[in-house]
Amino acid sequence: MTDKAAPIGVFDSGYGGLTVFSEIRKKLPQYDYIYLGDNARVPYGTRAFETVYRYTLECVEQLFGMGCRLVILACNTASAKALRSIQQRDLPKLKELRRVLGVIRPTAEVIGVYTVTGKVGIMGTQGTVTSNSYKLEIAKFFPGVEVFQEACPMWVPLVENNEFAGPGADYFIKKNIDHLMAQCSEIDTIALACTHYPLLIDKIRDCLPGGVRVVSQGPLVAESLQDYLNRHPEIEALCSKGGESRFFTTESTDSFNEKAGIFLHDTVFSEQIEI
Ligand code: DGL
Repeated sequence: MTDKAAPIGVFDSGYGGLTVFSEIRKKLPQYDYIYLGDNARVPYGTRAFETVYRYTLECVEQLFGMGCRLVILACNTASAKALRSIQQRDLPKLKELRRVLGVIRPTAEVIGVYTVTGKVGIMGTQGTVTSNSYKLEIAKFFPGVEVFQEACPMWVPLVENNEFAGPGADYFIKKNIDHLMAQCSEIDTIALACTHYPLLIDKIRDCLPGGVRVVSQGPLVAESLQDYLNRHPEIEALCSKGGESRFFTTESTDSFNEKAGIFLHDTVFSEQIEI
């Protein structure tokens, strides 16, 4: 690590961002990473705009304080409710070069390529859905695509509480999938617009009619980050390359290590921080 270069920060309200982090690390293993999960304050999806903005900014500042120059908001709710304010209001005030990127744009940029019927479903948290961020972003890249949304407020708690494989998950997944498909039977592509949801993907597929494609964001965000680093050598030069990852949580490390191990299929030793 040079004295200036530092790990890439990856942030989520909890464990969900690990689904994005694992794909980023797979694609770009040469970099160092710091993952921060705000598990003490999850979920963000049901919270007010100002609260999500404040919590997200505090976590981003924490990652900047650890040296990170580039932070990925691996959380749709934070990307929908805080990213623009941070980029436009907070980053310009800083003396040093810092960048914060989200997960909505990389998904919106490609989702229209997958649909044949031009009808796309978005499953997300209440916060992501009511922000209409996906409708607005997808319209910029694919104006002919019609977007249908469904908020799934129970899905994050199912994942955070390790209930994603049980019968409770079956009930809530079917309920929300049925609501979405009732809006339009021609939906042929569904984006999992919450980083927690890939853990539910098998059950989601089981509830859908054949031929409906389910898209997870991790690979899309990883691809987009690689492209961003290629296009911004001045930022790339500030990302340290040692292939190491550190994990921080605002809650208990025991619980983080256990659950993060499930997400990453790996042993995780996290450190606790207070924000
Ligand atoms: N994983 C986050 C997302 O992608 C949200 C989880 C939460 O509600 O905090 O939206």
